[in-house]
Amino acid sequence: MARDEQSRPWLSRITQPAQLRATPEENLAALENLTEIQAHREWVIDGLRAHVANLEATLQRLEEHTDNLERELEGVRAHAVNLEKLLAEREARLADVEAHAANLERRAGRRRTRLAERSMFPGVRFPRLNAIFRLGERIWSEREDLQERFPLDRAADYWYWLLWHGLGSRAEWASQLYPSPEPHLIHRVVGENTGAAGYLRGGLVDGWRIDGCLREAGFDPARGGKLLDFGAGCGRILQYFAVYASSCRLVGCDVDKGAMDWCGKHLDFAEFRPLPMQPPSPLASGEFDAVYAFSVFSHLPEALQRRWLEEIARITRPGAAVVVTVHGRHVIDEIVSRRRPHETPTPQQLARALPELEQRGFAFFPYRKLRFRDIENDRYYSTWDLDQYGDAFVLEPYVRARWSDLFEVVAYHDAPDDWQDYVVLRRR
Ligand SMILES: C[S@@+](CC[C@H](N)C(=O)[O-])C[C@H]1O[C@@H](n2cnc3c(N)ncnc32)[C@H](O)[C@@H]1O
Repeated sequence: MARDEQSRPWLSRITQPAQLRATPEENLAALENLTEIQAHREWVIDGLRAHVANLEATLQRLEEHTDNLERELEGVRAHAVNLEKLLAEREARLADVEAHAANLERRAGRRRTRLAERSMFPGVRFPRLNAIFRLGERIWSEREDLQERFPLDRAADYWYWLLWHGLGSRAEWASQLYPSPEPHLIHRVVGENTGAAGYLRGGLVDGWRIDGCLREAGFDPARGGKLLDFGAGCGRILQYFAVYASSCRLVGCDVDKGAMDWCGKHLDFAEFRPLPMQPPSPLASGEFDAVYAFSVFSHLPEALQRRWLEEIARITRPGAAVVVTVHGRHVIDEIVSRRRPHETPTPQQLARALPELEQRGFAFFPYRKLRFRDIENDRYYSTWDLDQYGDAFVLEPYVRARWSDLFEVVAYHDAPDDWQDYVVLRRR
């Protein structure tokens, strides 16, 4: 007998074919069985109903979940549409950028061709200068603003900009520049209060002004010739003229042997020759087409000035351009009025000398003693005859009267730099 039939004996009865009951008791018992069956059915039905309710709740949850998933799917679809739009926009922009880059590339190519056809700075045989020139050309070729500001025929202006702003603006470029002279050499030519940057920039400004004066006297360094910086010191102003090194032979001379040695070692674009304290010099007669002397005659006594002027006349060819700076009326007024502090002479000393200066047109105040903070210069000047080195003042009429036998005075510029007068001469 099956396990169910053992625990529930009536089950076998109702699963068996119906039998006639013999007695009312048996019928009664059968009825009881039926009642029990009914109760069981109800229990089963209740169970099934609870199960159905569970299934319905589960179904509802599934429906809700499906709704959620559909909503999420919609969001994802909308996002995908946005992304596609964005991608299309990006692709359009990329196409624009590519077109622009191709355009720039074409323009750069044209510029490179132009540069190759004609150079801003023609090649020179001086390695350091050549390297600076090539770097300058590279910077120029990469910057449209510079090309517009400095067309190819304005190399000197670009050179001025390049040394002033360009090369100093990046450490790796600055390292390509000529080295700065040792401080004691700088102090000898521009005083102890000027640093390396002021030294370089002052030289550029002074050189640029002298360039203009040389042209006024008919000498264009871009067209060739031989140019002398008389009293070049450590080459402060010659650095500006290096831009002409492909066309013009550059020479610097000075009585300062240490400065000449330094220049010879570091400035490859010019030749440097030491001078004796007074003429004659080792320079050949008629050797130069042009000479300039910045802040040299403003320090020499009258007789020595004259001797060096005669020497400059000797070493230049007839018609040569000569530019000499002197301390003139403007400096005298600045010192006497105390607008500029000055030691040799003091304002009082100069004021006392004024009547004679006005009459003769010349005055000289020897330094006698030069004090420097750096020991090299104290030692250096201790060997000098400081009666022959000081501050010299001249007036324009004196220059016109006394120098005219050697030179034609082309122009006299009254302190365009607020300190030195520029005398523009032409060798007779
Ligand atoms: C104030 S510095 C100017 C140097 C240079 N021209 C410059 O502007 O940087 C004067 C120069 O004159 C030179 N000097 C001094 N005595 C001289 C002399 N007797 N004959 C020629 N030059 C002299 C010095 O050696 C010095 O380099």
